[in-house]
Amino acid sequence: MQKQRQGGLRILFADDEVHLRDLMRMELPRLGHEVTVCPDGPSALKALEGGLFDAALLDMRMPGMTGIEVLAQIRQTSPDTQVIILTGHATVDTAVQALRHGAFDYLTKPCKWAELEAILGRVIERRDLANKTQALETRLKAAEGGTPLLIGDTPVMLQVKRLIETIAPTDAAVMVLGETGTGKELVARSLHEKSRRADRAFIPVNCGALPENLVESELFGHRKGAFTGADTHRKGLFEVANGGTLFLDEVGELDKSVQVKLLRFLESGEIRRVGENEPFRVDVRVICATNRDLREMVGEGTFREDLFFRLNTFEIDLPPLRGRKADVPALARHMIARNAQRRGLTEATISPEAVELLMNHDWPGNVRELANMIERATILAGNGPILPEHLPTQPSLRPRVSAPAASPVSAPHFQVPDGNPTLRDVEMKYIQAILEKHNGNKPAASRELGISLKTLYNKINQLQHN
Ligand SMILES: Nc1ncnc2c1ncn2[C@@H]1O[C@H](COP(=O)(O)OP(=O)(O)OP(=O)(O)O)[C@@H](O)[C@H]1O
Ligand SMILES: [Mg+2]
Repeated sequence: MQKQRQGGLRILFADDEVHLRDLMRMELPRLGHEVTVCPDGPSALKALEGGLFDAALLDMRMPGMTGIEVLAQIRQTSPDTQVIILTGHATVDTAVQALRHGAFDYLTKPCKWAELEAILGRVIERRDLANKTQALETRLKAAEGGTPLLIGDTPVMLQVKRLIETIAPTDAAVMVLGETGTGKELVARSLHEKSRRADRAFIPVNCGALPENLVESELFGHRKGAFTGADTHRKGLFEVANGGTLFLDEVGELDKSVQVKLLRFLESGEIRRVGENEPFRVDVRVICATNRDLREMVGEGTFREDLFFRLNTFEIDLPPLRGRKADVPALARHMIARNAQRRGLTEATISPEAVELLMNHDWPGNVRELANMIERATILAGNGPILPEHLPTQPSLRPRVSAPAASPVSAPHFQVPDGNPTLRDVEMKYIQAILEKHNGNKPAASRELGISLKTLYNKINQLQHN
């Protein structure tokens, strides 16, 4: 059942009647929920400090604090927790008061089990709706770059597509390998779209871009007060992706402590927020990508071998574009059509001579390089067809006189900026040149620059905010 798959709710139950607490402690888990019980308001608030709950069932009349008072606090500290007030004396007054203070609903005592179940069902719906909204948002974002349509019918690409069809419906972890720009993220999205999770969130995370000290809390969430700056409870991306797919890009960048937590999730299906003691279940499919050699990293001891095998249940290896050049014309036409559609043009074409030039190039930046080149050429060509003159003047994109020894990476175009550049200007220019040389492949650029990937991301941020 859907509810089971979602792992039920985390429920906080506060009531001063001991038999009701016993009842809930027994019955709620049978419905697939997890429950924590408290005898009064202050202990309920204490429990809330210890973790995030999907729902809080609060008795109206408790010694020390009323349910409404507890409700008011919950609204402040845990806005994602839906509060249901239990009232012994069902007056319109208390009900209205509860709702006015932001309660999700109320129940009159003695409460009927069916009513409680119905309300909890609606809490699940609300949570799923929030997830769906998130899913829609990420799909919209994906749609901006075109629906995930994998172009290519060379034998290797047909094999990739068949593999996607076969493994998409399973919940198995998938490792997508390939050089930069070969379409790893597109493959991950296709796997998601073709799975039973398609109407849930697809959450891409760039593991290399997360600040080192926050990776764990970004992925797994944290408890209020777990560390300096954690002033609210926060869901991690695993919870946001609940029911859907988490795409861990550049997974080789995760440090060892996070690798352990990821492994634990893959083995048990459970995660634990930073600062919390209790693990809980989430239903998430993990897809990873990397353009680093993880096997080599395993050999060096920087990537856990057990994690590697867990993540690698299936492996999709995307061949570089130079190894499937027959796909270039179809890819180019697809991108031309997409650009034309975006700019409201009805017709957009490319001349056979221009296609021939594209076929001569070795595409170190793979499909992304092609997409960028087509985008530029479409603009230069205006309303006419794309001609050779709209393509860059790199030797490989010119008719060949004698075949040059194709180096996979062209030389950087680096010149010290004119005038009196500051050290910073020179640094930024150099970083830009190295990035261009590697066609935007950041791990490769960071290695050549001799800085960590994270430092590179910081520098790029500075570049963009200049
Ligand atoms: N087979 C394909 N058909 C259509 N478009 C493609 C294909 N492969 C890649 N693309 C497009 O090329 C661009 C780069 O693809 P993507 O971002 O998936 O690459 P990547 O392997 O994740 O790159 P990186 O390693 O740099 O993160 C995207 O715009 C994507 O839509
Ligand atoms: Mg990518």
